[in-house]
Amino acid sequence: MGVMKWLVIFVILCISSQVAAQSGFELSKFSATSKTVFLTWTRYPGAESYRISTARTSSPNDTIGFVLFGANTLMGSISYLSQGVEYIFTVEALDGSQRTLASASTNTTTAPDSMDPIQTIKPKNSKTLIAEFNLKNGVSQYIIRVVNEQGFFREDKVSSSPAEITNLSPYTEYSLSIMAVNSAGRSQPSTTVTAKTVLPPPQFFTSSPTNDSIVVSWAPVDYAVQYTVSVHKFDFNTEIKYNTSDTNLTISALEAGLLYMIKTSAWDPIGRNGEDSLYKNQTTRPPAPSSVNVSVVLNNTAAGLSVSWELEKQVYGSLKYHVMSEQNVTCNTTSTSCILPVGCGELHTIQVIASNEAGPSYPSTPVIFITFPCPPQSLAHAPSLDGNCTLTWNTVPYADKYEAFIKRGDGSEENCNTTSNNCTYRCLCGHTYLMSVLAFNKAGSSPHGKVLNYTTVPCCPENVVVSAVSTDTLEIMWTASLGAELYETRAADASEVILCNDTAPVCALSDLSCDRAYSVVVSPCNEISGCNRACKAHAKDTAPCEPTNLQLTLQNSTVGVSWTANNRKANYTVTANGDDGRHICTTSGNSCNITDLPCGSVYEFSVKATSAAGQSLPSYTKSQETEPCCPMNITVNQVTQAMTNVTWSHAKGARSFITSLTSPRGHARCHTQDSHCLMGCITCGTNYSVTMETYSPTGHLSTCKYQGFSSSPCCPSGVKLYRTADNSFQVYWRSTGSQYSIIAELVTLFSYLFGEQHWNSDLQRKAESGLIDASFSQRQHIFILIFLLHQLFSTRTNFIVKH
Ligand SMILES: *[C@@H]1O[C@H](CO)[C@@H](O)[C@H](O)[C@H]1NC(C)=O
Ligand SMILES: *[C@@H]1O[C@H](CO)[C@@H](O)[C@H](O)[C@H]1NC(C)=O
Ligand SMILES: *[C@@H]1O[C@H](CO)[C@@H](O)[C@H](O)[C@H]1NC(C)=O
Ligand SMILES: *[C@@H]1O[C@H](CO)[C@@H](O)[C@H](O)[C@H]1NC(C)=O
Ligand SMILES: *[C@@H]1O[C@H](CO)[C@@H](O)[C@H](O)[C@H]1NC(C)=O
Ligand SMILES: *[C@@H]1O[C@H](CO)[C@@H](O)[C@H](O)[C@H]1NC(C)=O
Ligand SMILES: *[C@@H]1O[C@H](CO)[C@@H](O)[C@H](O)[C@H]1NC(C)=O
Ligand SMILES: *[C@@H]1O[C@H](CO)[C@@H](O)[C@H](O)[C@H]1NC(C)=O
Ligand SMILES: *[C@@H]1O[C@H](CO)[C@@H](O)[C@H](O)[C@H]1NC(C)=O
Ligand SMILES: *[C@@H]1O[C@H](CO)[C@@H](O)[C@H](O)[C@H]1NC(C)=O
Ligand SMILES: *[C@@H]1O[C@H](CO)[C@@H](O)[C@H](O)[C@H]1NC(C)=O
Ligand SMILES: *[C@@H]1O[C@H](CO)[C@@H](O)[C@H](O)[C@H]1NC(C)=O
Repeated sequence: MGVMKWLVIFVILCISSQVAAQSGFELSKFSATSKTVFLTWTRYPGAESYRISTARTSSPNDTIGFVLFGANTLMGSISYLSQGVEYIFTVEALDGSQRTLASASTNTTTAPDSMDPIQTIKPKNSKTLIAEFNLKNGVSQYIIRVVNEQGFFREDKVSSSPAEITNLSPYTEYSLSIMAVNSAGRSQPSTTVTAKTVLPPPQFFTSSPTNDSIVVSWAPVDYAVQYTVSVHKFDFNTEIKYNTSDTNLTISALEAGLLYMIKTSAWDPIGRNGEDSLYKNQTTRPPAPSSVNVSVVLNNTAAGLSVSWELEKQVYGSLKYHVMSEQNVTCNTTSTSCILPVGCGELHTIQVIASNEAGPSYPSTPVIFITFPCPPQSLAHAPSLDGNCTLTWNTVPYADKYEAFIKRGDGSEENCNTTSNNCTYRCLCGHTYLMSVLAFNKAGSSPHGKVLNYTTVPCCPENVVVSAVSTDTLEIMWTASLGAELYETRAADASEVILCNDTAPVCALSDLSCDRAYSVVVSPCNEISGCNRACKAHAKDTAPCEPTNLQLTLQNSTVGVSWTANNRKANYTVTANGDDGRHICTTSGNSCNITDLPCGSVYEFSVKATSAAGQSLPSYTKSQETEPCCPMNITVNQVTQAMTNVTWSHAKGARSFITSLTSPRGHARCHTQDSHCLMGCITCGTNYSVTMETYSPTGHLSTCKYQGFSSSPCCPSGVKLYRTADNSFQVYWRSTGSQYSIIAELVTLFSYLFGEQHWNSDLQRKAESGLIDASFSQRQHIFILIFLLHQLFSTRTNFIVKH
């Protein structure tokens, strides 16, 4: 390297200057001992010898001596120098005439002298020896040579005493010598001293199997006869040492959760304590957590058990806690509480374990905790008749009591507390109830379960009015009831059921049978809860049935009416309507008479049944006419002796008449529709009884009796008229021999035809004998009238005599 540098410099000088090329002459130290310095120099061209002179650097002018070398010698030694002194050596290249061609110099120190042997050697540890030696003046560096019989050789440079010789093998003998070193070189080694390193530290392991002990164990150390374990409680100034010849040691009665610093060493057979191991930190296991407290925490989404605890004492280092339950839920934390996720109705046996790097503690005393109950399931609802409803549910484990909430649609709320599985509450018809049940125990209430939505049956309608609108129709009206969407109205009797469904609070049930006791029930219905079948029935009878089979019998002025009575119980009213108004008879049987009906009338008969339920329809009508009337007045007028004109007044109800004049001497009849008739074959001078049979158009007959009738006296018979000569006439008749006087009268035709006055004035000639004298101036027709004078009335018998 030195050569190289020079070459480089040389090259640079060559390039820069030719003159400088000649000064490339150089001297350098090859080596030096405490008394001799070996020098080398470069060849100088033309030199025939080289002279090396020596002086102390401190006084360079005082040359101590010089040595000459031949031209071919480029290395030489200078001896008899003093140790450890800096000299300046100068080489001169001399030519044949001893002139100096060039020179170069170098400063070099001689090496120191060999040193005293090392004074003491102490093992520092199993790999280090400490050597103490006397320092040498002017020497700043020393070399300690370490050898052993196993061929170990090493030289360590040291600068001061004591010096550590490291990296040795444990429990090994070494021989050590020391050399002084200066810039020129090293001294001779001192005489050797032997020393042995101590035993190495045992390789040990610690653990804390319990919270009051630590186990230390180690691998056996070769040559060791005993071991020492030192235990130092952290932050305390005490150290306890344990000696043992075992390879393990259990240290007990320690405090839980504290840091112990542990080191070990081995003793060799010669009683030397070997190297101390490094401290190892070992904590004892933590104490078991205590005062474990469990409570329920809830948040919006989940429930948990908040477990908290304490440690009885301060411990070293950080702890982790593990909380576990037999239900296989755990939580880990470094604080002194954590939350176990739990569900409802669970039995937890909770233990907490604290852990440090030594391991886990004993578990804490188990705490048994029952979580809040699960929500009761299978809510069901049982209605009962008296307006109390029962809510039932399935009991759940670990529940102490239950609280049921019953909320009505209109907002009112009821609750009930029980330890059993049911609860009775007041329930009203026509309402919706929302029901829920919470279970409770010491840990709190269950979460909300399913809500039971129950709608009670609609309320029974009030003010139900059943009225018969006709014999076969009932109209039912009521006030609308709560919760009803539809009403099912049903009328039932023993044999039939009539239904009508409507949303309106009115219904007409028709086509009912008459005279039945119907039971009418209005059942309100809604879609959710069906129909309320518990509503009161309303009994209603239908009106009686109409009587049938009407029979009439006429007797005199009385009509007997009978019918078929087909009702359970009814009063019957017979009505006879005629011209003169109405006649009525009433009975609860099946016949009655209507008396005193006037003659000659037609009546319409009908029967109607009446009961508390109403009136039946009237029966079909039947007509009945009474017997025709007799004419009030009858007049019998004798027209001729043998012929009578009978006239009579109007007879109501009569259409034809048979008039009879009856006498023992014969009788006369006439049959007519008129109110008069002519009857012949009347025997004069006879008392007749007068009777009449009147017939109505339908053939009813009345027999009427009248005052008797006497026919006129018999007319004179054998009337003969003779004209006498003096214009008189003579009338002759055969006397009837009766008590009547006979008057003959002559009248003219004119008088006869035109009037009484004429009759009287013109010709009033009456004769009571058989002869009338009358004179007529003219030729006239003359009638001869012959009157039979009766006591009471006179009958004129006309004879027309043409003359
Ligand atoms: C050494 O010699 C030189 C010249 O030869 C001179 O200049 C110098 O002063 C001397 N030094 C000492 C210490 O005498
Ligand atoms: C030798 O030592 C002296 C005194 O310390 C110094 O003046 C001189 O330059 C040195 N010579 C060389 C070649 O180092
Ligand atoms: C401790 O040492 C004893 C004796 O040397 C030995 O019987 C025992 O097994 C050792 N225990 C352990 C844990 O190494
Ligand atoms: C042992 O613990 C102490 C205290 O915390 C610490 O200062 C030291 O460095 C630890 N030693 C080891 C070997 O971890
Ligand atoms: C509720 O608790 C659960 C676990 O206990 C947790 O995961 C969740 O984040 C919590 N929610 C709120 C809102 O605190
Ligand atoms: C907890 O887990 C263990 C092991 O997996 C199992 O045997 C045990 O039945 C579980 N316990 C419960 C309550 O689930
Ligand atoms: C809690 O720690 C234990 C060991 O300490 C481990 O087995 C478990 O898995 C951990 N659990 C959780 C939730 O981190
Ligand atoms: C129905 O409820 C009423 C009021 O709560 C109560 O007085 C009555 O005893 C209950 N009836 C039954 C059968 O439980
Ligand atoms: C039921 O218990 C709760 C809480 O104890 C109380 O608030 C409520 O009033 C009770 N209800 C009845 C009906 O007693
Ligand atoms: C309701 O609870 C009572 C006790 O309070 C019990 O005797 C009865 O059997 C229960 N009823 C039902 C239907 O479970
Ligand atoms: C209860 O049921 C009725 C009918 O199904 C429904 O209209 C109502 O919304 C329900 N109420 C609740 C709270 O579920
Ligand atoms: C009335 O409703 C009931 C059930 O609500 C049904 O059984 C019946 O057939 C209905 N009647 C009529 C006439 O619609």
